[in-house]
Amino acid sequence: MKERLEKLQAEALQKISDAKALDKLNDIRVAYLGKKGELTEVLKGMKDVAKEDRPKVGQFVNDARKAIEDKLDEVKKQLEAQALELKLEEEVIDVTLPAKKNNVGHRHPNTIALEEVERIFVGMGYEVVEGPEVEYDYYNFEALNIPANHPAKDEQDTFYVTDKILLRTQTSSVQVHEMEKGNLPIRMISPGRVFRADEVDATHSPSFHQIEGLVIDKDVTFADLKGTLAQFAKELFGEDTKVKFRPHHFPFTEPSAEVDVSCFKCHGKGCRMCKGSGWIEILGCGMVHPHVLEMSGIDPNEYKGFAFGVGLERIALLKYEIDDMRLMYENDERFLKQF
Ligand code: DAH
Repeated sequence: MKERLEKLQAEALQKISDAKALDKLNDIRVAYLGKKGELTEVLKGMKDVAKEDRPKVGQFVNDARKAIEDKLDEVKKQLEAQALELKLEEEVIDVTLPAKKNNVGHRHPNTIALEEVERIFVGMGYEVVEGPEVEYDYYNFEALNIPANHPAKDEQDTFYVTDKILLRTQTSSVQVHEMEKGNLPIRMISPGRVFRADEVDATHSPSFHQIEGLVIDKDVTFADLKGTLAQFAKELFGEDTKVKFRPHHFPFTEPSAEVDVSCFKCHGKGCRMCKGSGWIEILGCGMVHPHVLEMSGIDPNEYKGFAFGVGLERIALLKYEIDDMRLMYENDERFLKQF
């Protein structure tokens, strides 16, 4: 019996050493130590062993069992360690690999330019207000001193909803709303969409954006207007930007001016950007016409004001050197992704 046990033990240990996988080890455990395992079978033969020999044989059996169990544990640990090693190797992270790029949206150049303009004026203490895009003729024209025979009032230039209601052609209409509220002084800018019956081309669109500016206070002068817009131009286009006020006419301001900035590309030498002149026109402005103040219930003897109107697209096109306005509305990702 001893020999049989020794043979069994040797055989089992060999099989365990040869095992390459954990489930194989389990099969071996069952085959030798299980209820119907070989070692268990040997134990069943104990009844035939002489009584006095039984303790000894029992000892053998236990030794064999222990040897097999120990070997099973040892190899199990080895195999587990190997498996872990392999897993770690497979899952190793190369921290030097470039990270996966997150696809984030891009702000539209109009939005970037608007945020820049708002930042500048909010920094000077202006409020940002909005007004309606569908507007009464009164706010868009009449209250701004625009006479009935003015060409802008023609159906060819303006989208009418009814006789008296239209899509606003300029954000100047918001000036009137703000003045009517009567909360003086006023220091506001009003960005928004405007509409004109224009054909689409590189510089025109039936819908575009303006930013209106209005300041009403006692003792406001043209010098305040000049200082404000000069500061605005410097912050927007660079510290060395110069401004030039050219006399102009707008029905709702008197005097009126158009403002040019020195070309930020060639610094006045003349280039494609400024069409060789060294100057780029950026906005219209003026002192609010006394009649306009009066119509909105403000006493022109007590209060004065200045106003300005900037084309948002114009600013964005200039700043980002975009040479066709249509790109702003086509939602072409190849264009938008650049901002
Ligand atoms: N509303 C004018 C336009 O659309 C722009 C403008 C000019 C606005 C002078 C003003 C201003 O406030 O003072 O052409």
